[in-house]
Amino acid sequence: MSILTVRNLTKRFDGLVANQDISLTVEKGSITAVIGPNGAGKTTFFNMVTGVYQPTEGSILLEDQSIVGMKPHAISRKGIARTFQNIRLFGNITVLENVMVGMHNHLRVGVLGTILQLRKFKDEELQAQAEAFRLLEYVGLADHLNDEADSLSYGAQRRLEIARALATKPKVLLLDEPAAGMNPRETKELTDLIHKIRKEFDVTIILIEHDMKLVMEISEHIFVLDHGEKIAEGNPDEIRKNPKVIEAYLGSGASTAQAVSTIGG
Ligand SMILES: Nc1ncnc2c1ncn2[C@@H]1O[C@H](COP(=O)(O)OP(=O)(O)O)[C@@H](O)[C@H]1O
Ligand SMILES: [Mg+2]
Repeated sequence: MSILTVRNLTKRFDGLVANQDISLTVEKGSITAVIGPNGAGKTTFFNMVTGVYQPTEGSILLEDQSIVGMKPHAISRKGIARTFQNIRLFGNITVLENVMVGMHNHLRVGVLGTILQLRKFKDEELQAQAEAFRLLEYVGLADHLNDEADSLSYGAQRRLEIARALATKPKVLLLDEPAAGMNPRETKELTDLIHKIRKEFDVTIILIEHDMKLVMEISEHIFVLDHGEKIAEGNPDEIRKNPKVIEAYLGSGASTAQAVSTIGG
């Protein structure tokens, strides 16, 4: 069963075509990767799926509902959450507060409710805090609740972004280069964390990633973008062997040995 269906998706910026006529289907419950050289259009794709950019053409369906034209907060409520290639945390508030910001969308009591039902609001706030704590424990940041987000290592900041995204209770979690800046040990832990999240949160995961070892190890399905177009899709074995993919990464004339070391053998 598919959870996300994209048809003929195009995004133009003035003269530049960042995504061109992309059609794809993401299986519910899968770990799916989107790969491709720098500038291929991967982040633009995520930006359209999350409502940051409006497509120039094409459709995006979450389950069977169109989300084109919806604002990012509305899409977040529908169940799509993300992390960012360039980490976007509130650097000078605490780790716990950063996760609670992620939940804010989902607290049921609005401004009027706050006035009329102060007590209920307080209950919700406490619940939110407990939930945030649980998520931070989950991503291994329980010892850093009261640290400022800025003080965390790069890898820990990426895990905090994941906790914040999970706080919105997503159906689909988009991770934009989650291993960027991580050392090999952190990357291995991230692999385990992503598997655990998929299982325990019943969420579909779509990741953009350059670490081919991670991609090949973790993905059940891979889409390859190049110059804004989808040039290939398949399982890791199919992608490794695909001549178009090898060429996109290395240019024509590259040896298979070079390709294997880039795309993974
Ligand atoms: N807001 C924007 N305005 C103009 N050009 C953009 C904008 N966002 C992305 N692009 C361009 O679209 C292309 C694809 O970028 P991007 O989606 O970030 O690629 P990737 O994430 O695969 O590296 C690049 O040429 C980039 O410069
Ligand atoms: Mg990008």
